[in-house]
Amino acid sequence: MIPQRVRVQVPASTANLGPGFDALGMALELYGWIDMSIAEKTVVTLYGEQMKGLPTDKSNLVYQVAQLVFEAAGEPAHELDIAMYSDIPLTRGLGSSASAIVGALVGANALIGGKLSGYELFQIASRLEKHPDNVGASLFGGIVAAFWDGERAEHIRLEPDDRLEALVAIPSFQLSTEKARHALPQQVSMSDAVFNLSHASLLVAAFATGNLPMISQAMKDALHQPYRAALVPGMETILREATEHGALGIALSGAGPTMLALVDGSSGQASKEKLERFLVETFRAEGVQADTMWLKPSPQGAAVSVLRETDLSLELISQGKGEVRA
Ligand code: HSE
Repeated sequence: MIPQRVRVQVPASTANLGPGFDALGMALELYGWIDMSIAEKTVVTLYGEQMKGLPTDKSNLVYQVAQLVFEAAGEPAHELDIAMYSDIPLTRGLGSSASAIVGALVGANALIGGKLSGYELFQIASRLEKHPDNVGASLFGGIVAAFWDGERAEHIRLEPDDRLEALVAIPSFQLSTEKARHALPQQVSMSDAVFNLSHASLLVAAFATGNLPMISQAMKDALHQPYRAALVPGMETILREATEHGALGIALSGAGPTMLALVDGSSGQASKEKLERFLVETFRAEGVQADTMWLKPSPQGAAVSVLRETDLSLELISQGKGEVRA
C-alpha cells in the first residue's frame, strides 16, 4: 500500500569518532522529524526557532533531495507537502544536514512504495554529502564504518555496546563544515596516515568486541583535529585531558565545534558530573559558552511511519507538547 502522508524520525550523528575521518559515524538519540505527502502544490512548513530562515520553496533541501529519489526510481517529479522540526542543533557537528538528507530520502521513498533499497538511498546520500559517515549513521543507526570512493559507498553497521553513553558539549557558536574542511592540508605525511589507520582500525575492533578501555588509546587522530583546533578555543586542552576526567575517549564531533566524550554509563554520577564540569569550564575559560547533553547511541536509524489522524502534529511537538511516535 502506498501511504498518503509519512513521518520520518531521523537520529543525529557524530562523525569521525576521532581517527575515522570521513569513515566512522555513530547515531545519537537526538532527533529530527520530517512529515511528507504528495500534494497538488509544494508547501514547506518549518517549526522551531532554529529552522527560521531556511527556504520554504522548491529550493528547500528536503524537497530537492526527494526529487532525486523520484528520479532514481523512474518516477515523475512530485509536488510535496513537507513539514519539518528538529532537536538537532544546526552547524554544530551533530549531522543536522545529513539528517535532513536522510529524512528526505526515506520519506520520499516511502511515498512511492519503497522502490529504492536502503543501499540505493545510501549511494544518493553519500554522493550528496561526499562522505558517508553522518549519512550512514543517520540512515542505518548504531555505529557505521563506511567508505565513499567517489562512485560507490559501502558500509558495515555495528551494534553499539549497551554501556556506551556520549556526553556532548555544544559551543554557542556555529562552525560550517566548509570552513572546518578548508582548515585541512591537501597532503599529509605517511606517518600521520599510518597513525590514523592503525588507530581507526583499533577503535572499530574495540567497538566490535566491547573492549571499552581500549577506546582511550584508539580514539586519537592526526589527520584533522590538530588542524581544526585553532577554530575551537579550548579543544586542545579538552582532547589532552578529558580521559583524566572520566572520559573513555574524546573527539571533535564531525567538523565541530561540538566535542564528544564517550563514557562508560556505569561509571557513576559523580564521575559523570566531573567530566561535564571539566568540558564546560574549559570552554568557559576560553570565553566560550557551551551546553551539554547526555545522549545514548541510537541503535535505530531513520524510521518511517504512516502518519495517522491521532498523531501529534510537528507544531505541537516543536512546542514541547508531547512525545513523538515513529
Ligand atoms: N567527516 C566530515 C568532516 C564530517 O569531518 O569534515 C562533517 O560533515
